[in-house]
Amino acid sequence: MNVYDSQRIAGILQTLGFEETSSQTQADIVIFNTCHIREKAAEKVFSDLGRALLIKNERLEQGKDTIIGVCGCVVQAEDEQIAKRAPFVDFATGPLTYHRIPEILAKISRKKGTSVIDTEFPAESKFDFLPQNDSQGACSYLAIQEGCNNFCTYCVVPYTRGVEYSRPVAEVINEAKQLISSGTLELNLLGQNVNSYHGEDEHGKERNLSYLLQRLAELDGLKRLRYTTSYPADMTDDLIACHKKIPQLMPYLHLPIQSGSNTILKAMNRRHSKDDYLRIIDKLKQANPQIGMSSDFIVGFPGETEKDFQDTLDVVKYVGYIQAFSFKYSKRPGTPAAVMPHQIEEKVKKERLQILQDLLFSYQDKFNQSCVGKVMPVLFESKGRHSGQLIGRTPYMQNLHAPLSKDNLNKIIEIKITEATTNSLSGEAI
Ligand code: 5AD
Ligand code: SF4
Repeated sequence: MNVYDSQRIAGILQTLGFEETSSQTQADIVIFNTCHIREKAAEKVFSDLGRALLIKNERLEQGKDTIIGVCGCVVQAEDEQIAKRAPFVDFATGPLTYHRIPEILAKISRKKGTSVIDTEFPAESKFDFLPQNDSQGACSYLAIQEGCNNFCTYCVVPYTRGVEYSRPVAEVINEAKQLISSGTLELNLLGQNVNSYHGEDEHGKERNLSYLLQRLAELDGLKRLRYTTSYPADMTDDLIACHKKIPQLMPYLHLPIQSGSNTILKAMNRRHSKDDYLRIIDKLKQANPQIGMSSDFIVGFPGETEKDFQDTLDVVKYVGYIQAFSFKYSKRPGTPAAVMPHQIEEKVKKERLQILQDLLFSYQDKFNQSCVGKVMPVLFESKGRHSGQLIGRTPYMQNLHAPLSKDNLNKIIEIKITEATTNSLSGEAI
């Protein structure tokens, strides 16, 4: 979602006449788009801001001004900290108000030395104010939903991104058409809780994600569809059926369980048990036997026993994820879990994460190895490190390198997989 937001922020700046530069020393404006999900991500921005100040001062000696901005969830959660720890920041906006950047810049330029912090939960939708979204290549993100009402006890998202909001169907279709006409072949629909989508259609009727997927699948030129991230309790039967009915829907789904222990899931305030989750996986595999699953896991949630942790490992063994993301529990200020008793020692968290990741990687590796010899359609998105090489994505989100000339960029090509490692594949056009 932050990548999508950053692209939209860059789009705003382009309408104001700015161009992107890869060098901070050349930048008249530097914006950090921040994440607050875990402590490590949130702390990073303060060290980045320190470095940006040094560059700002160097530029000042050459008579050049630099505007430093901060966007995203750290602003929403820690606006006072930013003002205190980085008073040189010119402006800061939360994830729901970055459409106001043009006004903010105008205010700053009218009165030198002004700084603006905007952390309002606005009544208007930012999407109504953003400039047209042009595709960044053959794969594009499209935010269809934002915010979350689930209040998992460890998570900051409901506090930083606010309550759930679904964009109207017509608005999503229009953005998709725009992206397709500027070169998109693959759309990845985004939302913190994307499968709880409930946007209004053209007649004011509330529609769900399965309806939206079917409408998008009718668009000419769209070859691939994905959606992320889904919440297990919102994985309805009609949505599961889409994995059978819609050929453009890729056979890969990210469906976080977080923990395999029912006790921990309850303490996390998740609205599903381990068995509910496994039943959904079984149904998805029935709908599309080719489907590969991915998940997020948290180890070391307060009160997690050795037995609870074993339950998580059992889920991994049952599902056999082809990819996954796993994290040590990180205390987030203001969330209920931060003040729960029986916080787990760092050493134990570290050990459990290592064990879990070793197991997850073994399944990922096994899956990648099983692809060798198969032929898959690969969408080539970028040039490889070596000349005459392109990097693309398989239907399962694996990175694949192939010896291909650059006229094959932004195309889907049938590739025979020749080699596999845990993190990537190699292959050649057939
Ligand atoms: N500590 C560790 N991981 C977290 N996540 C969310 N909040 C926390 C936290 N406090 C993880 C979850 C979520 C992913 C985006 O980040 O696994 O699915
Ligand atoms: Fe956070 Fe996801 Fe839980 Fe919402 S469903 S509170 S975004 S972990």
